[in-house]
Amino acid sequence: LESGLLAGKKVVITAGPTREAIDPVRYISNHSSGKMGFALAAAAAEAGATVTLIAGPVHLPTPERVQRVDVITARDMHTAAMEHTEGSDLFIGCAAVADYRPETIAESKIKKDPNSPDQTLDIKLVRNPDVVASVAAKDNRPFVIGFAAETHNVIEYAQDKLKRKKLDLIIANDVSDTSIGFNSEENAVTLVGADFEETLDKCSKRQLAGHLIELIAQQYNLQTSN
Ligand code: PMT
Repeated sequence: LESGLLAGKKVVITAGPTREAIDPVRYISNHSSGKMGFALAAAAAEAGATVTLIAGPVHLPTPERVQRVDVITARDMHTAAMEHTEGSDLFIGCAAVADYRPETIAESKIKKDPNSPDQTLDIKLVRNPDVVASVAAKDNRPFVIGFAAETHNVIEYAQDKLKRKKLDLIIANDVSDTSIGFNSEENAVTLVGADFEETLDKCSKRQLAGHLIELIAQQYNLQTSN
């Protein structure tokens, strides 16, 4: 990876899951480990960028020369992303943000009633804000790259998200294959733009992040030189 590739650029990256509380001891979340987003942060820093990494709850060390902002919920991630993208050049949304959160957080631990015949519990969920779409909707927005984690029709759904969320690029990630994607050491993706598509074969998330940063820098330079 060329060390001057993103010199002078301010890059903000989200990584990991978010965690949405149900009560003081329980939450809704997903299997994102943060590995892909942390690898992208490390690669962007190696390419010379000033990197802010907004991380959900993960167990990973902060890459060298990266400023880390820890968050728990989707709403926290949204607030942090809106703040840290002020004056930024590129934004990469790699986090697996929870689409929904419980409408209310019970103040004390939810107890089961041992005398009730009812075997179900209803938890009403409400939509969370969309972090990457909110960044893309800002005035003076950075160059915005999202991910699309899909189990089927991967490229088609990625193209749909690219348009709907008004992104510059999207990284299509087939998460039906458990050897790649969520919480694995390796990954394989297709980088998709309005008139651009490039598939990167399976390799370690660190290697893949290097390739992705190179391709993203190329596409960014093409757009900003126009
Ligand atoms: O963390 P790892 O274990 O290394 O796994 C990596 C990964 C599989 C999590 C990563 O490669 C990946 O695919 N991340 C995106 C996961 C996801 O939530 O995808 P999505 O298709 O549901 O969301 C589309 C895009 O919108 C993503 O850029 C996501 O960050 C963003 N989004 C979604 C919902 C929301 N409320 N706010 C968002 O910003």
